[in-house]
Amino acid sequence: MVAGLASRKNMVKMMPLKRRAVRAIPISCLALAYAATASAQAPVGGGTQSGDERQISDRSGSQLDLSPQAKTRSGTTGDNAVKARAKRILAQMSDAEKAAQLTQSFYLQPVPRANVGAIEALKTTGLGSLLFVTDPAEINRLQKMAVEESRLKIPVLFAFDVIHGLHTIFPVPIGLAASWDPALAESVQAVAARESRVVGVHWTFAPNADIARDPRWGRIVETSGEDPFLGSAMAAAQVRGFQGANFGSPEHVMAGPKHFAGYGASLGGRDWDEVNLSDAELWNAHFPPFKAAIDAGAGAIMAAYMPLNGVPAVANRWLLTDVLRGAMGFKGLIGSDSGSVNKLIVQNLTSTSVQSVARSLDAGLDIEMVDPGKKPAMAALPDALASGAVERARVDDAVLHVLEAKIRMGLFEHPYVDTRQAEKVFADPRSRTLARTAAARSAVLLRNENAILPLARGKLRSIAVIGPLADSAKDTLGPWVFEQNKPSATTILQGLRAKLGSNVKLTFSEGVRMPKRLFPSPSSTADAVPERPPLDETAEITRAAALARDADVAVLVLGEAMNMVSEGGSRSSLELPGRQQELLDAVVAAGKPVIVVLMSARPLSLHDSKPAAILDVWYPGTEGGSAVADILTGDAVPGGKLPFTWIRSAAHAPNFYDQLLSHKPDPVNGRYWNETSEPSYAFGFGLSYTSFAFSNLKIAKRYYGRGEPVTVSVDVANTGERTGDEVAQLYIHQREGTSVRPVRELKGFQRITLKPGEVRTVTFKLSAEDLRYWSAVTRSYVADESLFDVWAGGDSRASLHAEFTVGSPK
Ligand code: NOJ
Repeated sequence: MVAGLASRKNMVKMMPLKRRAVRAIPISCLALAYAATASAQAPVGGGTQSGDERQISDRSGSQLDLSPQAKTRSGTTGDNAVKARAKRILAQMSDAEKAAQLTQSFYLQPVPRANVGAIEALKTTGLGSLLFVTDPAEINRLQKMAVEESRLKIPVLFAFDVIHGLHTIFPVPIGLAASWDPALAESVQAVAARESRVVGVHWTFAPNADIARDPRWGRIVETSGEDPFLGSAMAAAQVRGFQGANFGSPEHVMAGPKHFAGYGASLGGRDWDEVNLSDAELWNAHFPPFKAAIDAGAGAIMAAYMPLNGVPAVANRWLLTDVLRGAMGFKGLIGSDSGSVNKLIVQNLTSTSVQSVARSLDAGLDIEMVDPGKKPAMAALPDALASGAVERARVDDAVLHVLEAKIRMGLFEHPYVDTRQAEKVFADPRSRTLARTAAARSAVLLRNENAILPLARGKLRSIAVIGPLADSAKDTLGPWVFEQNKPSATTILQGLRAKLGSNVKLTFSEGVRMPKRLFPSPSSTADAVPERPPLDETAEITRAAALARDADVAVLVLGEAMNMVSEGGSRSSLELPGRQQELLDAVVAAGKPVIVVLMSARPLSLHDSKPAAILDVWYPGTEGGSAVADILTGDAVPGGKLPFTWIRSAAHAPNFYDQLLSHKPDPVNGRYWNETSEPSYAFGFGLSYTSFAFSNLKIAKRYYGRGEPVTVSVDVANTGERTGDEVAQLYIHQREGTSVRPVRELKGFQRITLKPGEVRTVTFKLSAEDLRYWSAVTRSYVADESLFDVWAGGDSRASLHAEFTVGSPK
């Protein structure tokens, strides 16, 4: 029975968000407990604890009180006291001082000329925020100007892109998502927060909560991939990691989920192009991770650069005010992306800074991030106020959001950092242990013919390590890593050397070089690749093949250099860049087993090459090489799963798994005249060194009332001979309703560790929220009465099936 179309009864209106209590776990316990428990049980081993099982407790015994009456770090009580304090400051401010608080300037080092304006502002009007300084002494020096020289002595919020670590670098976010372990992501970002706060950073522009369904788009690397359910879990976990038990917790930073909203759907996967998304796509796919991040307490949100449905996000009142503030109940700070207020003129939306300021403030923006070296559009705020172009009340509201963030972060009481602490925190060995665990847990094994992996260590005499990424520290670390924070990495060659010692002979050839970028990117300075003497690639490919022939096995590390992803890192092709395919074919032709280790953030085509094994390790970070060595030798067992559909070629993009059920479902992969559209690997796919079987899929009842939680359980058995991790995944499909629903949708997952022969029952609860969706018919959330299919298994092709009905028996 189709529930009455558009009947009011069936609609679940989007309620103002209830803020979920954030777990009260301080960094010192939470982040490092992961490393401690994981490493104590199985330091690099197969039996790593799964997040759901791990007991992470507040060993300090102190429970942080999350009630509104709770003392904040600044010593005032609750939200009202924070607001009252902010209002007292506001009452003393001139228009120029307000404009300054609404400004966030880059402070690039060492490019002081671009910073002159910011320095002047610090000493006179004060400044809302500075980004990109991470030297604690420099932060103190700059802070001192604001706190001691400016009239109102308002401290500055220091911000930075802490995407997957500051000094200790963890796998890139797409890799963290591939772990399907939100507790791991939380622990990782807690360490990243600790390293950031100790240098004086208060605010990170992360997590990237964009949904990435077109892998040509380079920023997929910062996201959790294509799925809103996985993306929501990962966004919330990262916010909890960054912010800790409550906003302003010591050793934590404010999280700034970005880019609100839809940036991942830029036309053709081309970075910075326009985005056109239906309301249904926005509400059902692109908004949920932001909502989850807000529910987790995110203090800031960054508005996207690009026009969404014809209106630049920063000037999009529907987006920032109606949706973000209204429907989602966001109460924190809304910031712009770099230069986007000024660029309203470039986009021919406005023709003066007064108009740009007025349009963006009116839309709901609070603080403008100014492009490096550019004059803030906010400098026009006094004129905008004087001419009545912008409402004073809205300006004051924006300033209050900035001040409240500063108060709640404890900046007025603790504007400075202890410069002696950073090196100590950076040197904490537990962070590296966590980095190694995280890299191992994020790796996805895509192919393992004849169980070539793990390598038979006892019999192994020699390995040819080949490829342009095998010994590249910079690429092992990945993008959004900055020299100024002294990151370091163990490369795969180094990791294997350290693991295997002198018993196994390692030979090395870089094989080929990576091609150069065609157009400069904004991050060209950060990702500059040092010039090296030219390489005769033809000769080197021949040499590499010879090394492979002489070795027991070849480990071929291929993929994309770190600057081929991320901002300005969109690619029109999913081919291996440069002559890597030729290298791969030559090495495979040498006749020895070839293990391809991929560093990438997107699917890559290997064409018809048939290496014995393929392991995707993303950009694994500081301990990447050690973690890969752990996996190749069996000291760790891969358990990651793909957070996106591995399409065959760029021509197939986008082709994500949870598409709407079409009027012509079959042949689902026969949509092109010339080739199959079947992905190479399905969403959620990943192999282990052991095997698993799913059985006994049970749904507690046959019929459910609308809004009633549905309990589903399934047995997962380890049918192999090693301890390993499986990610139990739950998918649903709604058979009838107000709108057409996706062919399958992920609605639950759990990563578990099973010993050989062990069977575990995994239980999922489908909530009312899991069974509702936004319908373009009613223009609201609906929860239909319908038959629902349920599948459980190890990837999105799961075949174990059951059904339940929302509604009564017919
Ligand atoms: C532009 C990027 O789009 C954004 O993600 C980043 O946070 C800012 N630049 C600051 O680096």
